[in-house]
Amino acid sequence: MEYHNPVLLHPTVDGLAIKPDGVYVDVTFGGGGHSREILKRLGPNGKLIAFDQDKDALDNVIDDPRFVLVNENFRFLKRFLRFHGHKQVDGILADFGVSSHQFDVAERGFSTRFEAELDMRMDQGSAFSAYDVVNNYEESQLSSVLFQYGELRASKGIARVICEKRKNGPIKTSDQLKEAVARFLPKHREHKILAQIYQAIRIEVNQELEVIKEFLQQSIEVLPVGGRLSVISYHSLEDRLVKRFMRNGMFEGEPEKDVFGRAEVPMKPVGKFIIPDAAEIKENNRARSAKLRIAKKL
Ligand SMILES: C[S@@+](CC[C@H](N)C(=O)[O-])C[C@H]1O[C@@H](n2cnc3c(N)ncnc32)[C@H](O)[C@@H]1O
Repeated sequence: MEYHNPVLLHPTVDGLAIKPDGVYVDVTFGGGGHSREILKRLGPNGKLIAFDQDKDALDNVIDDPRFVLVNENFRFLKRFLRFHGHKQVDGILADFGVSSHQFDVAERGFSTRFEAELDMRMDQGSAFSAYDVVNNYEESQLSSVLFQYGELRASKGIARVICEKRKNGPIKTSDQLKEAVARFLPKHREHKILAQIYQAIRIEVNQELEVIKEFLQQSIEVLPVGGRLSVISYHSLEDRLVKRFMRNGMFEGEPEKDVFGRAEVPMKPVGKFIIPDAAEIKENNRARSAKLRIAKKL
């Protein structure tokens, strides 16, 4: 099975405005679709450093002297770039979320389609999984995760039935979880609600929004003036962070203004956001919620 079909391949890499001798970073290597396109556009002296915290991504490593793959979380972007000898890079690409491979391997526990143990760790070395969220969180914590990250209106009720169910022993598998929340899964919306529950737990397990914030803040520090950032997000919680950061250099509030009333911001968006066209969505259903934003360091 194909590891991953890259989304918005050309516009995302176009957004980096690649200089053949430049140094670029792909922080979400996955199957390497975007990385291969970057390498095509680099000359012999260019360099590409890729990150992926998932060990499975190492099987896709590209045999090319211009390429390095770092098996780490991109929240450590700055640290590992330094380790590889780079204080600055010319452009950074991020394609957040889960790869098709991660969804398609039942044991990883990311997909609502399979019966599997509760897991959802992107980094298989992490000690914290979906099992811990579902079985060890207090009811109020669980409800807040479901509300904030799953945008579930029935978050309180869902947390309550999960906590009731686990009194009879831990909830270990996706089927047991589904059974616990069955009351909140009306036939015509079963898949949607379950997907929202999964999204919430996955975001919590991988601390996805915190990690994205750390990454965006560090991207500013490693890009030179004119350096590019191309980011694809897949849901409104991610996109809101990216949009606000690219406009304001912050996640909340408004930037300070200088004496002329101009906002002091570290980067500015390049063009409007881009979404896949109908043909791409038809060919690759996972592209349907993608939104690409590009920015340039000021
Ligand atoms: C949507 S896929 C990227 C696919 C890739 N662009 C391609 O063309 O194949 C996202 C990848 O990023 C990785 N990932 C997600 N969050 C990460 C993080 N915080 N640090 C490192 N890798 C991460 C996942 O393991 C996954 O392989």
